[in-house]
Order: sequence, then structure tokens, then C-alpha cells
Amino acid sequence: MINSPKIRKIVYGGDYNPEQWPEEVWHEDMRLFKEAGVDIVTLNVFSWAMLQPSEDEYDFSTLDRIMELVKENGLFVCMATSTAAHPAWMAKRHPDITRVESNGMKRSFGARHNSCPNSPTYRKYAPELARRLAERYKGFDNIVAWHVSNEFGGECYCENCAKAFREWVKSRYGTIEEVNRAWNTAFWSHTFYDFDEIVPADLRSEEFSWDGQLRTNFQGISLDYRRFLSDSMLECFKLERDELKKITPDIPVTTNLMGWYKPLDYKKWADEMDFVSWDNYPNYDSGPAYPAAVHDTMRGFKGGQPFCLMEQSPSVSNWHIYCKLKRPGVMRLWSWQAVAHGADTVMFFQMRRSIGACEKYHSALIDHAGRNDTRVFKEMAALGAELKKIGGQTLGTRIKADIAIVFDWENWWAAELSAGPSRLINYCSEVSSYYNALFSRNIAVDFIAPDGDMSKYKLVIAPLLYMNHEGYDERVREYVKGGGTYITTYFSGWVDDNDLVLPGGYPGKQKDILGIWVEESDALPEGEENSFIYKGTEYPAGTLCDIMHPEGAREIAVYEREFYSGTPVLTVNDFGSGRASYVGCHSNDAFYAAYLSDICAELGIEPVLDTPQDVEVTRRENDEYSFLFVLNHKDEKSEVRLREGGTDILTDKVYGSGDLLPLNRKGVAIIRTEKK
Ligand code: GLA
Ligand code: ZN
Repeated sequence: MINSPKIRKIVYGGDYNPEQWPEEVWHEDMRLFKEAGVDIVTLNVFSWAMLQPSEDEYDFSTLDRIMELVKENGLFVCMATSTAAHPAWMAKRHPDITRVESNGMKRSFGARHNSCPNSPTYRKYAPELARRLAERYKGFDNIVAWHVSNEFGGECYCENCAKAFREWVKSRYGTIEEVNRAWNTAFWSHTFYDFDEIVPADLRSEEFSWDGQLRTNFQGISLDYRRFLSDSMLECFKLERDELKKITPDIPVTTNLMGWYKPLDYKKWADEMDFVSWDNYPNYDSGPAYPAAVHDTMRGFKGGQPFCLMEQSPSVSNWHIYCKLKRPGVMRLWSWQAVAHGADTVMFFQMRRSIGACEKYHSALIDHAGRNDTRVFKEMAALGAELKKIGGQTLGTRIKADIAIVFDWENWWAAELSAGPSRLINYCSEVSSYYNALFSRNIAVDFIAPDGDMSKYKLVIAPLLYMNHEGYDERVREYVKGGGTYITTYFSGWVDDNDLVLPGGYPGKQKDILGIWVEESDALPEGEENSFIYKGTEYPAGTLCDIMHPEGAREIAVYEREFYSGTPVLTVNDFGSGRASYVGCHSNDAFYAAYLSDICAELGIEPVLDTPQDVEVTRRENDEYSFLFVLNHKDEKSEVRLREGGTDILTDKVYGSGDLLPLNRKGVAIIRTEKK
């Protein structure tokens, strides 16, 4: 992690681009950083053109001066490798480095995150630059992490990618016969006789836009192209990482992820990273549950180890469609929310606001006024002081959860690439429905991959897990048999890893666990709904209404309308010493809250604390202490009754058990309790 033994506090700072400014400004920056309590800068994120002015010329002189200056000023460095935007000369001289879009348009030079991941030029020069940086700066003991490239992402469909895709397919399937089977190419005369006939899945081949959504004729091919692109970019990450590791084996390597970013299979990525870091830019109106869910997802990648909040905005993000200011207190509140969910750093984009190009209206610690008395600067300086005050107390502490939600990128791709049954199928929003019900009650949740360890959880929820990866049902079977409780939903378990339907009635291999089989699914258009009654209250049933037959499961609720009225929509099956519940449709927040509350009560899963609505509580702990993070997301004051007493480490106020803890609007408290 970034918090090496050298840093015994939550590091504070972020992206700093002094190369965009004359040198006299740098000294002013150093002064202002000190005032704001900044102790880390992420340097060198977009400097490739400066560092390599031509094919065989490297120039580190400016970066040398920057490195000397920040070292003199006692700053830690998260050192980027600058490979997220290639130089113009490189694009001109080696056009293979620019990408081709899905419609076949070859890009010229421009923008960023613009290199083809299978370009020989990129794969030569990016690791080469990483190597030279490591060689040159290995003596700087203030470098606490390597930050490879920046926000890997996007797509490419060029000839080099096509070639690499064929190799990728070959190594995944071995023979062309196996490819034909996996992709079901007997459909529409698609049989391939040679790997050379295979082309990328794009707008020129299988993909098309239909009513504003991306569709494909062949899910198997499109799915594999996504896997391939994610792997290709991961390969680029690994090439740089391996160069860095050869020279500075002790400096951890990361790259900044983007949360629930669809194109890259982040679980696979995280396995290659020394620590997880991510950039949190929620919309002004996204509400606190969404970033909480994403923080929890990031924490889950490495089994609950703390992660790094690499970027967030001090106030506005220029690329949001409305650059609504973060209200006073919100930057602080969201920073603490990240920590409350497992972050051990609080970092930002950016330290000084640029004057030209598209990010000139993105907020910064130092904005265009260049002063230390702006609202944002003062709020950031106050947070800097707070972080200094609490020091390293919370570092490395963990969150304990009894519930896991299964989250899977390949499933996300497959479920939403599916042509039918409904354009309303939305993986993340289904996951959020379940997560939010637990979040609003302050019940801790971990996110796990489908091959994650279920055994330590009392409850595992797999919303809309359309894809039953090879062996997944066996893991669920074992978990439930052994006493676990499992909940899954409509449109789950239908297909295998290649998006081929598992025949014999849905959900394929999970029917015995759930004690049901689904015969048909009724996709209700937006605005139409069926309903069901659960414990005396009527709830809506929509999106997809599975029409199922119990085979051992108990009916908990039935549909109220339509030709399938009276048939089950919600079931529970006792299986081994555990049970498995099937929720056959999408419903509303009130239902998820009611159903999950009942299940939690039965399983003895407790909220961290009961609080008024929009007051969030989490707990991080180690062997000696428990830290209760209390976050008031409301615009007015609030209060919570503490179960246990302790000390608010932000104010040093001491509270007894049963005391009322007062909270300002957007207020935060961190109650430390010593364990007995
Ligand atoms: C991303 C990038 C940064 C910057 C910010 C702006 O997270 O990594 O370089 O562009 O967005 O919000
Ligand atoms: Zn390409």
C-alpha cells in the first residue's frame, strides 16, 4: 500500500502538474501545499512529450528539478509513468499507435488514453519510458508508489488488434471447431474455417446501435472481444509494471481504476496490482449510496485490504454536464466517506487548476485566483489539518461484513449485450437495489467475485447474475449446503461463460439449489407492472417477471395479476443446512428494504448502528480499537444515539455509552472505542 512504514498517516494531496507552469509558480505551490497540509503529490501523469521529444532523445531535466523541489519540501511522490497520452511526433511517425474506432475510423493525433493497446510502437516505448523513469529516480526514497499510465480504458479495432484478437481466441479455444461451438456459429452461417477469418466485434461486423443501445448479433464474439480488450490493456499495464519491478522491487505499483467502469474487468486487473486505487467522481445528485457501493467494490478486490482514493475533485469536475459546486462540507464529508469504507489515502485531482484546454474549469486546491483564502482552499486546509491530527490511527483497519454481494464484469457485459428479453435489464442498478437497502440500514457489505470465498458470510446475494461461470453453481451449492443463505434474482444463471444457454429450464444448473424452474419470463415495458403481496404489503413487479414452477421451494409471494397470477414470484428453498431464495422480478426500494431486513433479522445480522435517514455509519477496526465513522449526509443537523462510548478523534470529545452524538449539517465524527 501507499502507506509504507514511511508514512504513518492518511496521505493527503493529489495530481500536480508543475510542468504546465513557469518555475516561479512552483515555489508558490510549495508554500501553499504546506499551508494546506498536503504531503503527497502525484507527478508526471501526462508528460510523455516533454520526456521524449523525439525517437531517440530523452529529456528528464524539468522532471529532475520538480523531483528535487518536492523532495526538499518533504513531499511524498506517487510517480506516474506518463504513458496515458503519446507525443504527437510518435503518432505521426508511427501511426500504428493511434486507435481505430468501432466504425472503422482511424484516429489521427489528439485527446488522451489514445494508444492502441496492441500497437508495437506503444508496447515498445511505454515500458521503455517506465524503465528509464525507474532507473533515473530509484534513488528518491520519497517515491511511495508507481502509478502506471492513467485510467486505462476505451477500445480499439485496428488491424493490430484484429491480429492479436485471433491469437487470443486461439489460445483460449485451441481449435477452430471449439471456437465455432463456443460462439454457436451454426447460427446465420457464421462457421469459421480458419482463425484468419475472425474479425473484431465492432460496428463493421456484429455490433449495431438499436434504439440508443449497443447491440450485437453474436454475444459470444462480442463478449470475447471485451475480454480481449481488457486483457490487452492489462498486458500493457503489466509490461510497465514488470520494468518498474526489476529496478525498484520495493515500490508498490498501481494504476487508477474508475469504479464501476464497464469496459475493463477490474477484478482481474486488481490481481495484478500491488494495491487498488481509484478515482471517485460522483455526480452532484448521485446520493451517498452509490460511492459507498463503489468503495466497497474496490475494497473487495483484495479481500478487504485498504485501498487508495487516488482522485476526487475538490469541488467541481468540469466534465459533469452541470458543474454544480460541492456545497460547503461536502468535500470533507465525501473524503471521510471514502476512509469510512476502507480508503487509507485522501487524494485529489488536482493541486493547481490549469489555464488552458478542457480541464481549466476543473476545481483544484489552488484555483485561478491563486489565493489561500478561497472557500475551497480553506476547506481543504482544514481537512489537511484534521488528517494530520488523527495521524495513523485508522490505517490498516478493516471492515467486518456478514453479507457479500457477488459482482462480476463478464456478467455485466453478457447481461447487457443480450438481445432480449428487455432493454430495461441494468446490472448495476439491480446490484444497487440490494446494496442500497443494506446501506440505508448501516449494514456492512463486502463485494466478492463469483469465485470469491463465500464461506465467511452469513448471506450472499447475487443480483442478476445471468452468467453461471463454470463451477459457480458448485460453489453456491456447497455454500448453501453448509448453512449459508443465498439470494438470487430473475435473469440469473441462464447461460455459461460463452453466453450459451444452459438448457433444461432456467436457471440452468442452479435449479436444484433454488428448488424452482423458470418456464417463461415476461418483460414488462416501462410504466407497466404486475404486483405481489409480501407480509401484507403490495409491491410492484416489473422489468422481467419470471414465471416459475416450485420444485421443493416454498412460495413466499405470488403474482397478483396477468395470466400467471397466483404463481410464485418469491421463493425460499431449504437446501442442506442453508437456504436459497429466488426473487423473480424487479421490485422497489421498499420491498428490498423489507425483505432484506427480515432475512438479516433471521440471520442475526445487525446494523452497525441505527441512525436517522441519511446518517451513515460504518465501522473499521483492528485488534485494539474500533472506529465508528458517523457521516451526516443531510443538509440539516442531526444526532445519533451511541451504543458504545468512546472518543471522537476529530474533536477529542468523550462520549459514554447511550449518549447522544450531535452532528452538524454534513458533519462527521469518528468515535474510537478501545476493545476489551
Ligand atoms: C480523471 C483523470 C484526471 C482528470 C480527472 C478530471 O480522473 O485521471 O487526469 O482528467 O479525471 O476529473
Ligand atoms: Zn488497436
